[in-house]
Amino acid sequence: MSSTKLIAPTLCALLLLALLQALLAPRAAAQQQDACASVALSPPGGNKLYTSCNTLPKLSASLHWSYHPAAGTLDVAFRAAQSASGWVGWGLNPSGSGMVGSEVLLAFPGSDGALAVYTTKIGSYTPTIRNETLSFPVTARSAQYSGGAMTIYATLLLPANATRMSHVWQAGSVAGGIPVTHPQSGDNVLSKGSIDFLSGESTVASGGSRLRRKNTHGVLNAVSWGVLMPTGAIIARYLKVFKSADPAWFYLHIACQLSAYVVGVAGWGTGLKLGSESVGISYRVHRNIGITLFCLATLQVFALLLRPNKDNKYRIYWNAYHHSVGYAVISLSVVNVFKGLDILDPEKKWKNTYTGVIIALGAVAVVLEAVTWVIVLKRRSSSSSEKPHHGANGNGYGGRPDQGV
Ligand SMILES: *[C@@H]1O[C@H](CO)[C@@H](O)[C@H](O)[C@H]1NC(C)=O
Ligand SMILES: *[C@@H]1O[C@H](CO)[C@@H](O)[C@H](O)[C@H]1NC(C)=O
Repeated sequence: MSSTKLIAPTLCALLLLALLQALLAPRAAAQQQDACASVALSPPGGNKLYTSCNTLPKLSASLHWSYHPAAGTLDVAFRAAQSASGWVGWGLNPSGSGMVGSEVLLAFPGSDGALAVYTTKIGSYTPTIRNETLSFPVTARSAQYSGGAMTIYATLLLPANATRMSHVWQAGSVAGGIPVTHPQSGDNVLSKGSIDFLSGESTVASGGSRLRRKNTHGVLNAVSWGVLMPTGAIIARYLKVFKSADPAWFYLHIACQLSAYVVGVAGWGTGLKLGSESVGISYRVHRNIGITLFCLATLQVFALLLRPNKDNKYRIYWNAYHHSVGYAVISLSVVNVFKGLDILDPEKKWKNTYTGVIIALGAVAVVLEAVTWVIVLKRRSSSSSEKPHHGANGNGYGGRPDQGV
């Protein structure tokens, strides 16, 4: 039986190792093709190239411009990979950063198939697209589709002579002649930053670090709530049946659940922070399940302190309570990890990996359940022939006789 003593610590150690690796592994830098190097644009009708160009870090887009300091005007072309039937948009956010508050130029095909350019103010995350006057004048607007990319051309009078501005860009599909809301995840929520039209210097807004924090939140919670907690439950339920694992299973269970709780609360905190920062976007169900989980898990930790003695007559109620809350926490955790994966929408392999881990844990539980029953029934029959009666042993599961087989 000594090998069973090794299974649980090994599992726990492997999980922690996986957690560390996921956190520390250098993220594969997305290879962004240098759009400026491959495309040179000039304003329509003109024969002089734009003087500056910036390859934008997301959505295979680039911004080409010439800034005229004396007039405070900007000749600009925004180009992004797109099909001939989609929409692209670029704009400035004169008073803040990100999508809400920005004033943008949108191009998409009208009913006649020709590209039309709209100027619209984005007042919310679900804006109505109309053609309206912006707070800064826009002239010489046009758009063009060629070679798998759409380009919007315009001349802007930069508001208040500012040269360093927050900007946003985007691409999406069109249905029934109306632009469809772009995807709410991945590169489509990272396509924003600030740009200096004088120096040509550009930075990506906090989006990159925000995505990193979202990933950290995901890994912390998937590993703690989603993997360590069920593993700790499996340890408690199935190891205790082996006499040689007593009381090791108990300490392993506590160690697994407490470390899961500590890591899980850290992950939970990052989630609350992310939620409080994303004004306008809320994932109510994910958030509420998360808060419920925190309360139930905290209850479990305090329940440990109130645990009656093994032979206390209330122990049976405590066990029932501890098990039902425990199973509720595990079910909700798995549900919430999948909800989180849907929100974060990472590469498919992460969802597949987590699904695989859950299936593996489930399979281990099913096998151990069968083994446990065989052992318990065997003990029961052999011990009932030796001793006519034995009571519940207070462990909450099975009937492990005090005298072994
Ligand atoms: C939007 O309004 C501007 C200015 O009034 C106009 O030049 C442009 O053609 C309009 N665009 C569309 C698509 O109606
Ligand atoms: C912008 O700068 C130009 C040239 O320096 C100046 O003539 C103009 O008044 C400025 N406009 C504003 C709105 O500050």
